[in-house]
Amino acid sequence: MRSLIDILDLTTAEIDELIETGLDIIANPSKYAHKCDGKKLATLFYEPSTRTRLSFEAAMLELGGSVLGFSEANSSSAAKGESVADTARTVSCYADIIAMRHPKEGAPLVAARKSLIPVINAGDGGHNHPTQTLTDLLTIKREKGRFDNLTIGLCGDLKFGRTVHSLICAMSRYENVKFVLISPKELMIPEYLRQEYLIDKNIVFVETTDLVGVMPELDILYMTRVQKERFFNEADYLRLKDSYILTLDKMKDSKPDLAVLHPLPRVNEIAVEIDDDPRACYFKQVFNGKIIRMALIMKLLEVE
Ligand code: NCD
Repeated sequence: MRSLIDILDLTTAEIDELIETGLDIIANPSKYAHKCDGKKLATLFYEPSTRTRLSFEAAMLELGGSVLGFSEANSSSAAKGESVADTARTVSCYADIIAMRHPKEGAPLVAARKSLIPVINAGDGGHNHPTQTLTDLLTIKREKGRFDNLTIGLCGDLKFGRTVHSLICAMSRYENVKFVLISPKELMIPEYLRQEYLIDKNIVFVETTDLVGVMPELDILYMTRVQKERFFNEADYLRLKDSYILTLDKMKDSKPDLAVLHPLPRVNEIAVEIDDDPRACYFKQVFNGKIIRMALIMKLLEVE
């Protein structure tokens, strides 16, 4: 039995297989309508979510399965003090697979150790978000046709943005990938990531505060929201929240085939004027998220 806690739990070959399945689901959706008949997905969400939870649920429903779960900690026995390990053990009696989001880093890993069914990390605090990364990878594959030879700009809250951390880990495994890390000084990537996943692995990266200056070299620009809920004080959040606001004007020197990604939700960091520009890929990303979660659920449930 396999869980997915960290994107590096999957080999690049397994990621290729998931992408292939995803592309086949897009081409032949009816083939997949009964793949998970009789199976149940439990969504245990201790933190707010729109896309991640609903895309997991939509994915299971489109596979013919059904869903149960909770969408806030206060409506579950967590409010009475139950541990995630006990909750996972309990839910193992009701469902076939769990998707868990939790504000504490490592909670889905702790749950997976006691669960009798696969656990998928649907976001743990400011740490990781592997299924958003699978979403991003399917989007990159569909937009760029490759994972190698790419210059990837990541902009915004690189400190607390869990989607950023997982995407850097995933993309650092491909040839000739360069990262351009654009953030205020206070929101640079965590030191463990810089040292263990970039410096120690000889990955090419630069850190800058200047978005417009690096625009011409980017193949992908991954914008992110400043993660309000992870700040210790409101004054810092208010000072930093509008550090980067992407506009059409700021993109005027971009490559014509730049792909602008964002895990969403957007607050202020991408002007709505960009939504109809061909370089905007963030709503396509939403669709890809449901597709790749269908592929992932089938893989972890070992359905053919
Ligand atoms: C992201 C998350 O929850 O980390 N959202 C998502 O899952 N699509 C990004 C964010 O909340 O900023």
